[in-house]
Amino acid sequence: MPYVELRGVTKSFGQTPVIRGVEAGIEKGEFVVVLGPSGCGKSTLLRMIAGLEEVGSGEIHIAGKRVDQAAPKDRGCAMVFQNYALYPHLTVAGNIGYGLRVAGMPKPERRTRIAEVAELLELAPLLDRRPAQLSGGQRQRVAIARAIAREPAVFLFDEPLSNLDARLRGTMRTELRKLHDRIGATSIFVTHDQVEAMTLADRVILLNNGQIAQFGTPHELYHAPRTRFVAEFVGAPQINIFDAVVAPGGLTAESRFGLTLPLPKPMAGTAEATVVSLGIRPENLCVAEAGCPVRLDHIEDMGSQKVLFCQAGAQEIRLIEPGNHAFSNGSDIFIGVRNPAVLCFDPEGPADSQG
Ligand SMILES: Nc1ncnc2c1ncn2[C@@H]1O[C@H](COP(=O)(O)OP(=O)(O)OP(=O)(O)O)[C@@H](O)[C@H]1O
Ligand SMILES: [Mg+2]
Repeated sequence: MPYVELRGVTKSFGQTPVIRGVEAGIEKGEFVVVLGPSGCGKSTLLRMIAGLEEVGSGEIHIAGKRVDQAAPKDRGCAMVFQNYALYPHLTVAGNIGYGLRVAGMPKPERRTRIAEVAELLELAPLLDRRPAQLSGGQRQRVAIARAIAREPAVFLFDEPLSNLDARLRGTMRTELRKLHDRIGATSIFVTHDQVEAMTLADRVILLNNGQIAQFGTPHELYHAPRTRFVAEFVGAPQINIFDAVVAPGGLTAESRFGLTLPLPKPMAGTAEATVVSLGIRPENLCVAEAGCPVRLDHIEDMGSQKVLFCQAGAQEIRLIEPGNHAFSNGSDIFIGVRNPAVLCFDPEGPADSQG
């Protein structure tokens, strides 16, 4: 039985449905990331689990107990927010121990727990400072320490790293995941950053417009997206998607700009000139000696690799080449297939992938 279970959870604000029938089971010890575009309902879903927002309908179970009607403090969740929400007039120690004090833990015990948690998050030398005397990264560690101190059954994180600069964000991400593993926590982490989701998560819930578009491992979302939305949301630079006409025999299809791709599943017996929607990720295309002619429009040099933005008629094609290859803007080049991992999208239903 899952440790955190959402059963048909819905929520509306006024007449507007925001969460539309979410079913998900999260296992004990799992790190699950809720990913999705701005406004899709990520924070609302997390706040319902925490008890900060009432559910419209449906049930939430944590550790085998139904909790959707329980008070937030009785749910065993601790939440960490984007804006830290530290008490400015309390010291670091006071902030970390706040929840314990409110819960009535005696002072000596509280001191020991604060010291343990401060040690874990490398905050011991800062215990007497106030939040204003800390860097953003240190404040965020205090917010996490405060959550850990209460030994919650479930950690809920709402974009806790988005206020940090890129480098610190990367470090904190690794630290957070290590901490989760070390203390054997169960974590639900909200972000709209797909890199953060893919690097942190055991499994990702991709939310679109209040519904789960796909719930799976980062590998599944990337390599076997169920829909075009999932394929386009996950992966940067974005997957190339274009129409192609199935060739006689049903083994390949040719795009309008002249690129021939193998079909993930043979389509023998399809009517002549059947049009399908194909997807291929930028790293699976390459610059070739001969093949499909395109105009190289723009190059993004990332150091280790170059992202090439090409124009093939009206279609933009993105592809990735190693960083040491030289190209010039505005040149006419040929592209070909490096790895024939092709996705075929049915506009109505799930995508076929090549296993
Ligand atoms: N208290 C509220 N009253 C009315 N509408 C709300 C309320 N809270 C959120 N909404 C709306 O519900 C939708 C989902 O909001 P939510 O904050 O869950 O999105 P999100 O996925 O967390 O977005 P972001 O990535 O921008 O944080 C949005 O359209 C938002 O405007
Ligand atoms: Mg949000």
